[in-house]
This record gives sequence, structure tokens and C-alpha cells, in this order.
Amino acid sequence: MNELVFESFPELNTQRLLLRQMTREDDRCLLEVLSDEDTCKYLTHNAVNDIAIIQRMIAGMQRFFDEKQRIRWGIANKQDNSIIGHCGYFDIDKANSCAEISYCLKSGVWGQGIMTEALDAMLKFGFEDYGLNRIVAKVMKDNIGSVKVLQKLGFVQEGILRESLYKNGQYHDLIIFSILKSEYH
Ligand SMILES: CC(C)(COP(=O)(O)OP(=O)(O)OC[C@H]1O[C@@H](n2cnc3c(N)ncnc32)[C@H](O)[C@@H]1OP(=O)(O)O)[C@@H](O)C(=O)NCCC(=O)NCCS
Repeated sequence: MNELVFESFPELNTQRLLLRQMTREDDRCLLEVLSDEDTCKYLTHNAVNDIAIIQRMIAGMQRFFDEKQRIRWGIANKQDNSIIGHCGYFDIDKANSCAEISYCLKSGVWGQGIMTEALDAMLKFGFEDYGLNRIVAKVMKDNIGSVKVLQKLGFVQEGILRESLYKNGQYHDLIIFSILKSEYH
């Protein structure tokens, strides 16, 4: 694994998006993303309405990057640099060159291929620059949009992690997907 990627935050450019580090100036935009019940329905956390919590989240993301433990990009619309979502690597297993991804986008821009575009850049970075061999995603089984994004990118379903997420008083099954470096074009 190439730890040099942590020397300065690795910005990623796509046709419509700039994946960049979030700063405190992005707090209002991120609040707009994460205060939406629809957006948070399939996330591990519920909607967040408190700007102080958002600011702590952003500070936490910066700290995790500085400690070389996680990378989380803000997904910015190239036209005005505003944050419309986020995506990143966590649970990074350096010994086995694997990591899990998570991602979310504000509901107003769903269905335009934006997350497919963002994750494609993130996978390219993960395999070619960071040196990952295996990338994992876990999805609640009703989250059809997320399953479609993963399938479009070449992820394959491995199985069901039965009742592995406890959220809002209920256990939920998660589908586990993965993609290997040898499968990524
Ligand atoms: C899931 C999510 C990331 C998808 O982002 P997106 O930018 O809308 O995804 P894309 O447009 O790249 O692709 C979505 C695909 O799923 C399809 N889709 C979305 N919802 C669907 C549904 N309910 N039923 C069938 N297809 C659906 C879209 O039509 C599109 O397919 P297409 O390219 O063949 O038209 C976004 O909806 C989101 O952030 N949701 C909330 C947070 C979340 O669920 N995160 C993932 C946790 S695992």
C-alpha cells in the first residue's frame, strides 16, 4: 500500500465533479445533504440537523486523514464548488490491502449518474494510486439505487450479512459486494 497518498489530500477530478477535502466552510452544504431523511434512510446514522455535529464530523474526517486511517472526499459540483455529497474509504486493512467504501448524495441530484462518476474515480485511485487489492461495500437490501451503482461499476455480490446492522430498534440484513483489482478496468 502506498502511504505517500496521505502526504497531501488527493483531489480527484471527473467530468462534472471535484472530489476534495471538506473544510469547516462546507458545513452548511453538508448539513443540507445529511439533514434529509431520504438520504439517510439507508445510512448507518439517522438524519443530522445540528450544525455543531456536522462541524465535528468534518473535523473528524480531517483527523482520520491526518492519522492515515481513512480518506473521505467531499463531492463538489465543479460549477460552483458546492458540496453535494461525500464518499470514502474506511476500515482500511493494510495487511491485506482491502478497504470498505461508503457514499451518499443529496436527494435533489439522484439519478444523474453522479455517484457512479464519483466512485469510478475513487476506485481508480484506490487500485492504481493507493494500492488496494479488494474494495468492499455493504448495502441494505432495499437500497436498489446503491445496488445498481455498485453493479454498474463491476462489483459482485458475495452474500448476505444477516442482521448485521442495528438501526432504529431493528436488525437489518446487509448485502456484501466486492470488486478486486484484477476485475477493475
Ligand atoms: C444510492 C445513491 C448513492 C445513488 O446515487 P446516484 O447518483 O443517484 O446514482 P446513479 O445515478 O449513478 O445510478 C443510480 C441507478 O439506480 C437507479 N435507481 C435508483 N433508484 C432506483 C430504484 N428505487 N429502483 C430502480 N432503480 C433505481 C437509477 O435509475 C440509476 O440506474 P441507471 O444508471 O441504469 O439509470 C444515492 O441515491 C444516495 O446517496 N442515496 C442515499 C445514501 C445511500 O443510500 N448511500 C449508499 C449507502 S450503501
